[in-house]
Amino acid sequence: MTQHPRITKAVIPAAGLGTRFLPATKATPKEMLPVVDKPAIQYVVEEAVSAGLDDVLMITGRNKRPLEDHFDRNYELESALQKKGDAGRLAKVQESSDLATMHYVRQGDPRGLGHAVLCAAPHVGHEPFAVLLGDDLIDPRDPLLARMVEVQEQRGGSVIALMEVSPEQIHLYGCAAVDPTEDGDVVKVHDLVEKPAATDAPSNYAIIGRYVLDPHIFDILRKTEPGRGGEIQLTDALQQLAADEKVGGPVHGVVFKGRRYDTGDRGDYLRAIVRLACEREDLGPDFRTWLRSYVAEEM
Ligand code: G1P
Repeated sequence: MTQHPRITKAVIPAAGLGTRFLPATKATPKEMLPVVDKPAIQYVVEEAVSAGLDDVLMITGRNKRPLEDHFDRNYELESALQKKGDAGRLAKVQESSDLATMHYVRQGDPRGLGHAVLCAAPHVGHEPFAVLLGDDLIDPRDPLLARMVEVQEQRGGSVIALMEVSPEQIHLYGCAAVDPTEDGDVVKVHDLVEKPAATDAPSNYAIIGRYVLDPHIFDILRKTEPGRGGEIQLTDALQQLAADEKVGGPVHGVVFKGRRYDTGDRGDYLRAIVRLACEREDLGPDFRTWLRSYVAEEM
């Protein structure tokens, strides 16, 4: 039996400038870059919906209009496809507008991830909610968010997604010091540091971009001083929840061992496209044949 309110809201911060992908992101939001034939952001919204969260709030900024257009109807395109009798493509166009109830709020000043999450406070209210970062793509065959929601419903507080990484990589992530629990994939978080040097890292557990948060996080974020990089860090606010269980704690972690792609990094973005294309029923067979011969020629 769950004693907590059911989680229905997902928050997706999408105000970043996407500088790693310039010039592609000069006039196009990085979230709209295609992974095979779907914008990266659609995978993230689909993930939220398949975990039962169909109220989606995107935190956007200037130049992010295409995101709103993508999740809206496009009557001109739809009627052109209808006239042609192209039901397959029509369904693809309608898929993204039928997915979820979408809301948008703009983050005027880009003051960090913690500040972006704080922009969701009026919409979220006093319920636990999920945060999904667009740069992390979780393979739909390895559901993570649904498990996090389940753990939050059982244990209360907040739940973050963790993944073991090599010591050379930990400086790219928030890092959690943890204790085991009786559930093999769940750990108790007792300390958090944003992007530590390998020598200062309390563990090799990296935060990957999925969170289920207790709404007390908003009170803490309002008081959180800028941290690493001069930005208001979500990790710093979570550290406070982990340290003081009386105000919205505890914090648990779900240790993820499935497939994750970082579409915010150019190399990983290319790898994600190749892997997902190889596995697609429609494109995969031809693409794999070409890829095999390409690799053989190059070696
Ligand atoms: C953010 C968080 C970091 C987390 C990472 C996951 O960093 O601040 O704690 O590990 O996302 O992708 P960013 O990659 O936005 O700099």
